[in-house]
Amino acid sequence: MNEYIEAAVAQFRMLLSEQLERENRMEQGEPSKDFQKMDKIVIGIAAGDGIGPIITEETVAVLEHLLKDEIKKGRIELRRIEGLTIENRLAKGQAVPGDTLAAIKACDVLLKGPTTTPKGGTMESANVTLRRELDLYANVRPVTIPEAGIDWIFYRENTEGEYVLGSRGVEIPNKLCMDFKVTTKAGTQRICRAAFDYAERNGKTEVAIVTKANIMKKTDGSFSAIAHEVAADYPDIHAEDWYIDIMTANLVNPAIRSKFQVFVLPNLYGDIITDEAAQLQGGVGTAGSANIGDRYAMFEAIHGTAPRMLEEGLGDYANPQSLMRAAEMMLRHISLTDEADRLKKALDICTETEKRVVITGDRDGATGKEFTSYLLEKL
Ligand code: IPM
Ligand code: MG
Repeated sequence: MNEYIEAAVAQFRMLLSEQLERENRMEQGEPSKDFQKMDKIVIGIAAGDGIGPIITEETVAVLEHLLKDEIKKGRIELRRIEGLTIENRLAKGQAVPGDTLAAIKACDVLLKGPTTTPKGGTMESANVTLRRELDLYANVRPVTIPEAGIDWIFYRENTEGEYVLGSRGVEIPNKLCMDFKVTTKAGTQRICRAAFDYAERNGKTEVAIVTKANIMKKTDGSFSAIAHEVAADYPDIHAEDWYIDIMTANLVNPAIRSKFQVFVLPNLYGDIITDEAAQLQGGVGTAGSANIGDRYAMFEAIHGTAPRMLEEGLGDYANPQSLMRAAEMMLRHISLTDEADRLKKALDICTETEKRVVITGDRDGATGKEFTSYLLEKL
């Protein structure tokens, strides 16, 4: 057993100094881009796996329509990124192959379809790799249910917590395994700052800080403490601590759920609860997700590749709305506010008020293509 313990201790020492270095780098910070001042913006398009290519084609059709003039003028380029497929990633043995990552970094923002994450093994999820490599620390996920008075936005920490070392735990075979969760000061400050800034800019008065600080005392304890330090700079905003378990219950509690506005929370809790919230809105196929950093940003559906749909031959019935909602967030991010508003308005008509073409994800519903034609009519 001793050699395992020694190897684990050596690994832990390395991880600690690596994470400390990351914290130091974050403290330096990076200037953010001013898209309004840019002559040209390159939007990378990576279709991903499973239903990814299908919903990406629909979303690109919408973008090409909406951005016709900007594309013609050369202000916007939609650039295909090949190589983010599971086949290529497995062949190269890299979660995101080096040349693909370089191509992504040559773009300003990325619109990405879902990618397959191999279960077990050592290959990291492409999402996690991209979020880390592009330092996309804020995972922003809005959920609205107008008829229930719900207008939520989740600020999920996106580069640390349970994810940053999720593929680098230690194991003593047949005895025990340990994974690591990391909360840094600079990492927590920047996600909290993003959440409170959003609240301030948008006239929101409630921020829920969601942790399990009663159990994860070091990591979540410090997340909550730092969140309150940041909150002190926003005297008009009420910041309140919640535990993730009761918050999960409260999202389905009609007596209280409509009072929540902005949520800020560590990575894994944010992953789980945003699927719940999306389901309440109408399914994970309806919710978009933005991954924002100071330099890069990536926009995607909140769901996965839906392998079961493809096995059952239901690819054409996959719902592209989540990626279209993500595209709306992308347009807003790059300061194309009018185009974002037009897309939002059309999506709201098609999915909330008029609903003439309804996707169910099965043969009894419309196909993604039928939905796109309907949406284009409303644009
Ligand atoms: C999400 C997804 C990813 C995550 C997976 C695909 C790695 O569930 O974006 O929520 O866990 O973050
Ligand atoms: Mg998830």
